[in-house]
Amino acid sequence: MIKPHGSDTLNPLYVADDSKRAALIEEAKNLPAILISSGTAASAVMLGSGYFNPLTGYMNLAEATSVAQNMTLPNGLFWPVPVMNIVKSEQVTDTIKNADRIALLDPNVDGQPPIAVMDVARIEEISDDQRTYLIEQIFRTTDPAHPGVEAFTEMGNQVISGSIQVLNYSYFRSDFPDTFRTATEIREDIAKRGWNTVVAFQTRNPMHRAHEELCKIAQSEVNADGILIHMLLGRLKPGDIPAHVRDASIRKMVELYFPENTVSITGYGFDMLYAGPREAVLHAVFRQNCGCTHLIVGRDHAGVGDYYGPFDAQTIFDDIPDGALEIEIFRGDHTVWCNKCGEIVMIRDCPHEQENHLFLSGTKVRDMLAAGEMLPPEFARPEVAEILMKFYQEEG
Ligand code: ADX
Repeated sequence: MIKPHGSDTLNPLYVADDSKRAALIEEAKNLPAILISSGTAASAVMLGSGYFNPLTGYMNLAEATSVAQNMTLPNGLFWPVPVMNIVKSEQVTDTIKNADRIALLDPNVDGQPPIAVMDVARIEEISDDQRTYLIEQIFRTTDPAHPGVEAFTEMGNQVISGSIQVLNYSYFRSDFPDTFRTATEIREDIAKRGWNTVVAFQTRNPMHRAHEELCKIAQSEVNADGILIHMLLGRLKPGDIPAHVRDASIRKMVELYFPENTVSITGYGFDMLYAGPREAVLHAVFRQNCGCTHLIVGRDHAGVGDYYGPFDAQTIFDDIPDGALEIEIFRGDHTVWCNKCGEIVMIRDCPHEQENHLFLSGTKVRDMLAAGEMLPPEFARPEVAEILMKFYQEEG
């Protein structure tokens, strides 16, 4: 199987040994504790699950700056996005300043239990200029209206770095028992299924027809044994469709429209960054860590609004040093309904003029549903449309 990123074996930071974990949970009760941001807690889940292999914790300012600047840690490891624990200055009390070990509290679970124990390496203040630099490099914009920029800025100005041991998977294991999987579990599943070539499909949307065809075209072009549909289960921006609805609609679509045993439906616990190109590279790193040989990157991958060009998330891979990643990218062209072909096609494969093409997008689907319009079959499978309609009528 494809090797994990940066090491021969996967080293998840979740403490799997029951007695060791119980002892750490006990210790955490008496440690100085600090409430971390939702994104930082989600990073703990990614570190705990092996997806962020071979990182051992949160980066310090020099490490984050190096990653932001050239996608490489000072130790030479290729890594595309800073993984940081940033808190507000009023949270850094004298007790925290003097502590070698602290408990990190999860804001996303009732009672805010510890999600990890951290060996504090450094506490550093990040200046406005330093923060702006990181934001510009990661998001290619400093617009405060960008949801990723907003979340990053809101965290505060104190960077607490150091290695962590992870105690649980936040709310992901309990809320999504059938879907949340760690990188280790996915590797085991791929081995059990006997798959060699596996195409990963990243998504934060219910899968409409374009998504479905993108998977089928990629699978056929790279001759893959299987497709890993790997959905984001963490926080999204307002207006995006909640994970349980996406999960139900994806399961229905796979059951009805994909051959049996060709798709594995799974999810990971991370908040969406909306960092477009940089996030696409992070997506590639953690799909390699869970044993996939290919990642599909289509139009406006991990984008939001008009911040990124439609194929920026593909061209960023042209600048990645040879050998930095083993996983390969399947570059999907804009996928549309063609009235002349009478089916969903990638524009690059279609001989017909643009006036025959019906452009599909998650945003358009959401807008139609919000307006109470039924999705046409060119947009979504009827069984998928029904699940989405029901959600919008009841809760949307
Ligand atoms: S994402 O933020 O997770 O990238 P989304 O779930 O909409 O958003 O997209 C999942 C994948 O499908 C991404 O690789 C994206 O580029 C691709 N994609 C979505 N819609 C289209 C389309 N109409 N044409 C080509 N690729 C698409």
